[in-house]
Amino acid sequence: MDTTQDKAQSNLDQRIIMVTGASSGLGQQVAIQAGAQGASIIALGRSEDGLEHTRERIEASGGRCLYVPFDLLKFEDYGKLFLALKDQIPHLDGLVHCAGSLDRCVPMQYIKVNDFRKMLDIHLTAPNMLTQSMLPLLRRAESASVIFTTCDMINEDQNNWHAYGFAKRAMNYVASMWQGEHPDKPYRFNTINPGRVRTELFRRAFAGLLATKIPLPAEVVPAYLHLLSDDSKDMRGQHLDARAWLGLSCDI
Ligand SMILES: NC(=O)c1ccc[n+]([C@@H]2O[C@H](COP(=O)([O-])OP(=O)(O)OC[C@H]3O[C@@H](n4cnc5c(N)ncnc54)[C@H](OP(=O)(O)O)[C@@H]3O)[C@@H](O)[C@H]2O)c1
Repeated sequence: MDTTQDKAQSNLDQRIIMVTGASSGLGQQVAIQAGAQGASIIALGRSEDGLEHTRERIEASGGRCLYVPFDLLKFEDYGKLFLALKDQIPHLDGLVHCAGSLDRCVPMQYIKVNDFRKMLDIHLTAPNMLTQSMLPLLRRAESASVIFTTCDMINEDQNNWHAYGFAKRAMNYVASMWQGEHPDKPYRFNTINPGRVRTELFRRAFAGLLATKIPLPAEVVPAYLHLLSDDSKDMRGQHLDARAWLGLSCDI
């Protein structure tokens, strides 16, 4: 059986991995830890300060990082992103969807149409359309892993999360549809539920909750690295519960 330390060691040497939400929280830690394991990171986010911090941390561990300030809600820019990258990088070995936002939890009877749409766009439209735009680069890799981030709503009916909950619940179907449409290819699609993690999004969603028992992003990231590495090469169109895989308590 793997120890926790073994689980932190997925060799990502020479891999080129794009991470969304790389300016803070989970995405930032995925970028930093993957960079420390030898991957070259393409870090996406809007906050240049956050992305700069990510780049500094990666370079301090000897890794490489190209950061791209990018608003995932500007769908008209996805093609330009592909064109800007296609001659700069030979291929993409990984695409990790970690971007997300949540202004507040609101019952369905009060949600405003623009807030509802924004949640659908950032959590459902964006990861699908970015995957579509990056597919030519994923195709060029010997093997590639696409990871969609979901949450506890995948199994639980929780109130007040409106389109955030709907989008996250759809993620397993999303991964399975992508996989089903691309059988027998060297690239694969999976989802991960990180569980509750102490990030900015968590603080907004659970403002009244004592957070000290909630894992920090760095603690759950080894599960992402596992999905990125060849150790999980037989996982295709599947779901990984990070807490179960890491042996963390699921009661939090
Ligand atoms: N924290 C939890 O307890 C938890 C649990 C289950 C699932 N998740 C999921 O995990 C993922 C990461 O969340 P987190 O907790 O790490 O939250 P976070 O710390 O708030 O990070 C969210 C990231 O998304 C980026 N982002 C938001 N809107 C964007 C936009 N329009 N364009 C580009 N980037 C955008 C933010 O960057 P900029 O602000 O720089 O754009 C930031 O880097 C989300 O999908 C979330 O739903 C989180």
